Amino acid sequence: MALWSGRFSKGADQLAAQFTASIDYDKRLYAHDIQGSIAHVTMLAKAGIIPKADATAIVRELRSIRQRIEAGTFKFRAELEDIHMNIEAALIEKLGDTGARVHTGRSRNDQVNTDVRLYLRDECDAIGALLAELQRAFVSLARANQDLILPGLTHLQNAQPVLLAHHLLAYVEMFDRDRDRLVDCQRRLNRCPLGAGALAGSTLPLDREFVARKLGFDGALRNSMDAVSDRDFIIEFLADLSIVAVHSSRLAEDLVLWVSQRFKYVELDDAFCTGSSLMPQKKNPDIAELVRGKAGRVVGSLVGLLTVVKGLPLTYNRDLQEDKEGLFDAIDTVKLTLALLAPMLRTATFNRQVMEDAASDPALMATDLAEWLVKQGVPFRQAHHQVGRFVAWCGQRKLALDQVTLEQMRETVPLAKAEALGLFNARRSVNARTTLGGTAPEQVAKQLKFWETRLRSKTPKPRRA
Ligand code: ARG
Repeated sequence: MALWSGRFSKGADQLAAQFTASIDYDKRLYAHDIQGSIAHVTMLAKAGIIPKADATAIVRELRSIRQRIEAGTFKFRAELEDIHMNIEAALIEKLGDTGARVHTGRSRNDQVNTDVRLYLRDECDAIGALLAELQRAFVSLARANQDLILPGLTHLQNAQPVLLAHHLLAYVEMFDRDRDRLVDCQRRLNRCPLGAGALAGSTLPLDREFVARKLGFDGALRNSMDAVSDRDFIIEFLADLSIVAVHSSRLAEDLVLWVSQRFKYVELDDAFCTGSSLMPQKKNPDIAELVRGKAGRVVGSLVGLLTVVKGLPLTYNRDLQEDKEGLFDAIDTVKLTLALLAPMLRTATFNRQVMEDAASDPALMATDLAEWLVKQGVPFRQAHHQVGRFVAWCGQRKLALDQVTLEQMRETVPLAKAEALGLFNARRSVNARTTLGGTAPEQVAKQLKFWETRLRSKTPKPRRA
């Protein structure tokens, strides 16, 4: 800023200039910065603050700057600090005094906040679309493996048999809430800071509502001090991305486990795995591991910004410039993650036999026996105790739960009948869990249909409660 300021007698120290410059990363705001400036000067002319001819010339030149940036011929200068001053300098260089009118009634404080809001408004849509594409990948995988059974886990221990489709659709639910959160975030951030000036508003007759409307905002932010100082919309957006990253990471962990030699449930396409530089036999799930690992940096961006904002007095402080690198990194990371997960899932193949063998362990049906006893009138806590003793009894004799006679079962489960011996079948167990949202095929088929319909359109709206 010293460059243009009458207040300064010399430019910044070279290291200081390097320390303050943000152009290397905030140049990605160029299109939204120009969009904001076009709306701003249009309003200035309409309100009679600058001549109409000047506004027309400025708008034309802003468009040409945008073209030059996109063509790669625009020269960004670090000594101009950031994207706002680079564009303004280019305008002035070309238009002289006319260009010098663009910043009338505006501060970089309200300008940068506007740019980031416009930018994130678009990113909410883009990430929402990637999430929808990932949901579609899950749904088609679930449809293609509709009757496949595997052991569902709690505490990473085999628990009860479930349909693979049920497991997959659990992720569709998570990612749908993620989309919904982004819609919410987008609605809340869609308010215009322009006209707030440095912090207190302006002595010029700015028409803030006009600018807001022109930029597609749902109105102007009410309080000029709030408009330049808060970054809660970025924090909220990063929180939403952090949840997306954490959901992706859990999926990645499921995949890492499932491809391991201990599980061998799934085979990932070679295109989404890597080899070892030393061990020729290896096929490692590095992509899934990196999805898990990269969740750390997304959460890091969230925590970083919370920490930056935490101790700041109102209103704008330069610390706030630190909101951007973490934000952009989180966006790039999440988008790449989502774009990779979809084809990785679509090309995954499941080892039906291994999964069904694992699910056929009769111990997984112990709950079925306890619930059968409940249906015979036994209070659940007693049923649970009896079946627990039955499991221990079998364990001591190295017998599987389905290798006992009725008499043997009756030693620990006195009310057992022949019917109880038939409970130790995984498919029967899955078929019987017909509660709403349960793993029974009829329930899962309903969910599948629901998602197939909802995700059919190319730009589906997320589910609203
Ligand atoms: N590059 C700055 C940022 O991102 C723009 C605002 C600068 N404002 C100021 N008063 N120095 O925050």
